[in-house]
Amino acid sequence: MATQHDDVMAESASTDRSAEVDAMAASAKSYVPDDSVVEAAHIKDYDAFRRAANEDIEAFWAEQAQALEWYAPWEQLLDRSDAPFYKWFVGGKTNIVLNALDRHQKTATRNKLAFVWEGENGDRRTLSYFALDREVDRFANVLRSLGVRKGDTVTIYMGRVLELPIAMLACAKIGAIHSVVYGGFSAQALADRIADAKSKMLITQDGAWLRGKTVDLKDIADEAAEKSPFVQTMIVYQRTGQAVTMQAARDYWWHDLMALPIAIGDSGTAVMEAEDPLFILYTSGTTGKPKGLIHTHGGYQLYISNTLKHVFDLKEEDRWWCAADPGWITGHSYIVYGPLILGATSFMYEGAPNYPYPNRWWQLVENYGINILYTAPTAIRGLMRYGDAWPSRHDLSTLRLLGSVGEPINPEAWRWYRDVIGRGKLPIMDTWWQTETGGFMITPVPAQTLKPGSATKPYAGIIADVVDEEGESVAANEDGYLVIKEPWPGMARTIWGDPDRYVSQYWEKYRDKGYYLTGDAARKDEEGFFWIIGRTDDVIKVSGYRLGTAEIESALVSHDAVAESACIGVPDELRGNVIHAYVILRDGYEGSESLVKRLKQHVREEMGPIAVPAEIEIVESLPKTRSGKIMRRLLKAQVMGQPLGDTSTLQD
Ligand code: PRX
Repeated sequence: MATQHDDVMAESASTDRSAEVDAMAASAKSYVPDDSVVEAAHIKDYDAFRRAANEDIEAFWAEQAQALEWYAPWEQLLDRSDAPFYKWFVGGKTNIVLNALDRHQKTATRNKLAFVWEGENGDRRTLSYFALDREVDRFANVLRSLGVRKGDTVTIYMGRVLELPIAMLACAKIGAIHSVVYGGFSAQALADRIADAKSKMLITQDGAWLRGKTVDLKDIADEAAEKSPFVQTMIVYQRTGQAVTMQAARDYWWHDLMALPIAIGDSGTAVMEAEDPLFILYTSGTTGKPKGLIHTHGGYQLYISNTLKHVFDLKEEDRWWCAADPGWITGHSYIVYGPLILGATSFMYEGAPNYPYPNRWWQLVENYGINILYTAPTAIRGLMRYGDAWPSRHDLSTLRLLGSVGEPINPEAWRWYRDVIGRGKLPIMDTWWQTETGGFMITPVPAQTLKPGSATKPYAGIIADVVDEEGESVAANEDGYLVIKEPWPGMARTIWGDPDRYVSQYWEKYRDKGYYLTGDAARKDEEGFFWIIGRTDDVIKVSGYRLGTAEIESALVSHDAVAESACIGVPDELRGNVIHAYVILRDGYEGSESLVKRLKQHVREEMGPIAVPAEIEIVESLPKTRSGKIMRRLLKAQVMGQPLGDTSTLQD
């Protein structure tokens, strides 16, 4: 194990990124926030706030939890007895919907807009907190009448339409566990996730608009249902009006069900234990099988609402736009649940940022008076490429804060974001976190000094560090493993159906110390700023999407022509990384351009467009250790024209 990790650290330390961080950290200019920003912030003396939190984490969270309503208070704040299976707010009774919807019906928030939405084709829609609650109530009645019960799993496969949060909230309301599968996944990937969650119910839509065309979600859902024997009922929301096949006694139109008398009336919010699962969200790891991470009703709702309030300083009058997809953790936490708990107004847009023209986003900011924009470096780099003329035609003066997530933001993108979108002065909240962490972990707040390229410091109550193999803190400016030393309420509780994997993946390496292993390498500078280097495992971020090399390799190997395969991430200016795949063909197959094309198509069908390798190279052999482990590090060094380093374990 140790050698494998040594290998891994050596690999990450030798990447471009580590050198990039050297350069960034050396030239880092600090951006001290304006007095006006600090004065307006919820927390003005953040250092004091964090210090107090870190001195007594449990007292801190107990106090912060007072901002939420509970059906019944907890008896124990944190139960460590079964670590790493930590339990928060033990005995507390709640439901995330109690705070996201129900309590707002008793105040003026009832009349406030929860969501403002625009379709790619120009359709517009708004939902007040009252209207959203009514829709959720109705859909909850529909789900109940179709036999969905507390603890059942429901898979949701939709685009960016308001029915997606409605479906999620309706599941939560009745105590069902939702599993949202990103609408860019293929039928096979969807089928695998349905099977893992054993969902009898699938919610989808006819199609979604993307770049003027439709993504045929219902067709893909049909194929997935065929591949996985679990689905008994499918609910289809009509978005595009395109032709779809409806299977009798299995498929129902959303609008038909919602018009039935059974849909009407208060459906009642299920009283849940704080630790009851709220959702499963699949993410990529180091094996071919995606992991379904579990988040809960209690700790999760506190963590995401608390971090959102303080990091993006959300105010009553704000219009918040988290431009992620609700199908990922960013969307779960910061489009759907977080903003609703805070009673905020969120904007949601269906389509592509550059459709029909590269000014679409800037037009949306202007038209809807967006105050805070939160997106990924890939999107920023993509829009930057079109030049300043596109944003400069628009009045972006409503913006007061910017955010970034999903991958390291390079200094050029950071500066463009601040200078061109942020009028040369808006603070950028570079938030580091993961599907596993539920919410922001290493992040600035508006009142904090910034250094471009650094996610700055751990959030209040988060004890993060950079350590060596033994778990000892490394010296300033040295690379090491990023770990979290104490539990936090938003942490994933386990992997659905695979608690052993949860332990081995995240807790085994520093078991005696009880540290959570993030899978990222990082360094800390003399001033305690964290610089994320990147993944230390076989997980690759492509355009901010998280992919496991093993998943892509097994997709390739499932093709008749492929005997063996190895995938690596290669740095890319626009997408952060792209996938390069190496394949050994089976006897009887000849390498050709058309075969490479077919292999790419095959990966697209197995996983979806995001996983398609940029390059597929057909090779005779792969570099392996004597124990048979593929040395991806060597493949990478070769592509990047770098020295091969230590090859003493190489078999051949
Ligand atoms: O490598 C880190 C990178 O994204 C990984 C988590 O991916 P995922 O679970 O898909 O969640 C993404 C959205 C929260 C991390 O292990 N990452 C995320 N945010 C940043 C980042 N790397 C550098 N800087 C960030 N701000």
